[in-house]
Amino acid sequence: MSEELLLPVPSVPRGDTGVAWLRSSVVRFSNGEEHARRRTLTERLLEGVQATSLDELAAELGLPGALDDIARIAPAYQPHEPITAEADAAVERLAAGHDEERAARIGLLVQAWAATHALAECLRTGDPAPPVPVTRRAGGIVVSLEDHPFGYGPHACPGRTLAGTIAKNMAFRAMHHQDVPLVLPNAWDFASAVALHEAGFPAVGTTSLGVAAAHGIPDGVGLAGDQAVALARMLADLPFPVTADLESGFGGSPREVAELVRGLGVAGVNLEDGRPHGLATPQEQAELIAAVKDRAPGVFLNARIDTHWLGEAHEETADRARRYVDAGADGIFVAGLTEPREIEELAGIAPLNVLAQKRTPQELGELGVKRISTGSLLFRAALEHTVEAAAAVRDGGSPRAFAYEEVQGLVSRGTRSGAG
Ligand code: HEM
Repeated sequence: MSEELLLPVPSVPRGDTGVAWLRSSVVRFSNGEEHARRRTLTERLLEGVQATSLDELAAELGLPGALDDIARIAPAYQPHEPITAEADAAVERLAAGHDEERAARIGLLVQAWAATHALAECLRTGDPAPPVPVTRRAGGIVVSLEDHPFGYGPHACPGRTLAGTIAKNMAFRAMHHQDVPLVLPNAWDFASAVALHEAGFPAVGTTSLGVAAAHGIPDGVGLAGDQAVALARMLADLPFPVTADLESGFGGSPREVAELVRGLGVAGVNLEDGRPHGLATPQEQAELIAAVKDRAPGVFLNARIDTHWLGEAHEETADRARRYVDAGADGIFVAGLTEPREIEELAGIAPLNVLAQKRTPQELGELGVKRISTGSLLFRAALEHTVEAAAAVRDGGSPRAFAYEEVQGLVSRGTRSGAG
């Protein structure tokens, strides 16, 4: 019952130190005027925060490196949980001055910690249950959050948008560390992205060929940047992780590409070392990767290495893989790679992405592959099916297709409302 969320929250006794001080100083356990004042402070602290990870959030809130202590505090934060000496000590390490603003900063991180991890896990596994199942009100009332995963009323979560971005980033990263590889289908527009997610794919990528060709532009020469970026921005609001193919950054300097990635809001990007006319030097590409990771550390950077595709020696590909990972890349993508020994070697360097091929996901997983992309395949398949369908109509047949209402459903089912 959401009405119960309007009742007062449990009051907590005053405390001068440790968890008791934190509880009695934060917005979460205050009512009335005290809540209004602390709520304003909390919202002011969140203004302009653009963090891509919880680490970055801690740094932006003036508590860099605090997450280990936050993890110690979180289990003892709620008044119905026992306070531990470990949690008290962690609060004291962060509490400098014990003022209300310091409590608000710590409180924000504690609120973010467990809930964002839980939301990321729901996104990874597709579990529709609310990440925070219940909340409490005065008098021991326990309220289900089934209908309001981010709360409702005066205490509704002020970090919802930020939490969505960070949780999608965390979930997408975790999808690269599973026993079974992530099968990542590549979309070329809004409807194809949503249809793929609704078909059970937890994350979706984009295909540069699909985006460019749909706009009458050839792929791979850096000319479809505006279209690729516009699509990435549109997909970034979807309630599941999206990774955008940014080719080699569409001619931007490392700084410009880094700003672009930070502002996009997507969970991942692909950046390739191929250039419209040849290859970047490993040094140039490593600088680009380092610049992007510096500005958007929570975004999964998949470094595409084009040497294999261009027929260069395997050692060159492995060498570039190491350099890109040293520069901060989170994963490597080698298009056209099928040789088991080479797959195994590269998979030992970082989460390895290959294109869909004759081997099954399970077989590729046994070789160490962590991500299998469809690249431009789905766009090409759609084109083929489109032509076949038209020909079938001409020949008196009736081709299979999504119903009109199904497509309308894809774009109007709250899909633009953000994670959760
Ligand atoms: C960046 C991450 C997050 C931040 C900074 C954050 C911050 C906060 C803060 C400060 C409050 C207390 C507001 C008040 O009492 O007035 C709150 C409440 C709440 N948050 Fe979040 N939160 C985050 C992530 C999440 C996530 C991922 C979920 C789960 C989907 C969530 C669910 C809730 C709920 C349900 C409440 C309301 C509790 C109630 O009314 O009893 N939060 N959050």
